[in-house]
Amino acid sequence: MKELPSARILGIESSCDETAAAVVEDGRRILSSVVASQEELHAEYGGVFPEVASRQHIRVIYPVVEQALAKAHLSLGDIDAIAVTRGPGLPGSLVVGLNMAKGLALGSGKPLVGINHLEGHLYSAWLKRNNEEGKEYLPPEFPLLALIVSGGHTELVLMRDHLQYERLGGTLDDAAGEAFDKVARLLDLGYPGGPAVEKAAKPGDPAAFKFPRSWLEGSWDFSFSGLKTAVLNQVKNIRQELGDSKEDESVDLPVADLAASFQAAVVEVLATKARFAAQEHDVKELLVAGGVSANRALRTLISKDTPGRVHIPPIELCTDNAVMIAAAGYFRFARGHRHGLEMDAMPTWPLGSD
Ligand code: KG4
Ligand code: ZN
Repeated sequence: MKELPSARILGIESSCDETAAAVVEDGRRILSSVVASQEELHAEYGGVFPEVASRQHIRVIYPVVEQALAKAHLSLGDIDAIAVTRGPGLPGSLVVGLNMAKGLALGSGKPLVGINHLEGHLYSAWLKRNNEEGKEYLPPEFPLLALIVSGGHTELVLMRDHLQYERLGGTLDDAAGEAFDKVARLLDLGYPGGPAVEKAAKPGDPAAFKFPRSWLEGSWDFSFSGLKTAVLNQVKNIRQELGDSKEDESVDLPVADLAASFQAAVVEVLATKARFAAQEHDVKELLVAGGVSANRALRTLISKDTPGRVHIPPIELCTDNAVMIAAAGYFRFARGHRHGLEMDAMPTWPLGSD
């Protein structure tokens, strides 16, 4: 394979509720990473409030970018290109990062590369780190089967080479992360839902409730809305059985068992379908990325039964950050990809389309 040129990329991410900037060298070496989370701001709404998100991005994006450069001990002049999330995401949030990147590109004359947020999640698996024995972790090899599980997406994708995506399937309704967020709300566990459900599930029995697994046999698609409804119905039943009134809200729910049983159902379907898809496509390597890949139950199950190598980014790189955008930006920049200042946000941009 032809050796790619060396380059330092400044990455900028603002697609949802994290304002982030990072500098990455050669797509693999992290020189700096800054993430300003808006978690607390949105907690009172129980989800991301788009208007609040974009206004907060505007407030913090400049200092976040400045800090990322300062932490890397670099100035804009030392950067080879600016990579920015172009979509998918909230339109009002995306344009803040895009405009920041465009301003920097215009002022410095540096090239601009628009990145698909999902591609960013995938490329977080290429970032350098040590493996359990303390040795340098070897990056994924093609062909590989990728499972992207985030708040807005659940996708099974076959990658035969860098930047090549063959979509096998995806969710027909709720994304995996969305299901975690909805169930967290239902069980009054707060926002963001995924980590809250995982924590609540820890002392629980995953076999306490038999929630449905939607296999959708014969396809690589997923569906999580039936599972969410099953949890809702179970909660209603418990309230009816234990309470005095029709649906007594004051009843103490078996939250740990409900959370553990729900989590087990999601994780089993994700891990099993990803493994089968890899087998059927004769692929040895599996890559799992996106916010839900931070879930320990998923990490354990998918790593346990898969014969080949399983790549899951370290937990701090699973949720949104700009390191992943800079990493993906490098692989595009090194292959000559560039965007002009007219680049627009693409709020519903499917992975792999231009
Ligand atoms: O990738 P991400 O940070 O943002 C999007 O691109 O959507 O993913 C956020 C999603 C949320 O739905 C969040 O609840 C979920 O990832 N998530 C988790 C965990 N950490 C984050 N879900 C399950 N277990 C976790 N530990
Ligand atoms: Zn994401």
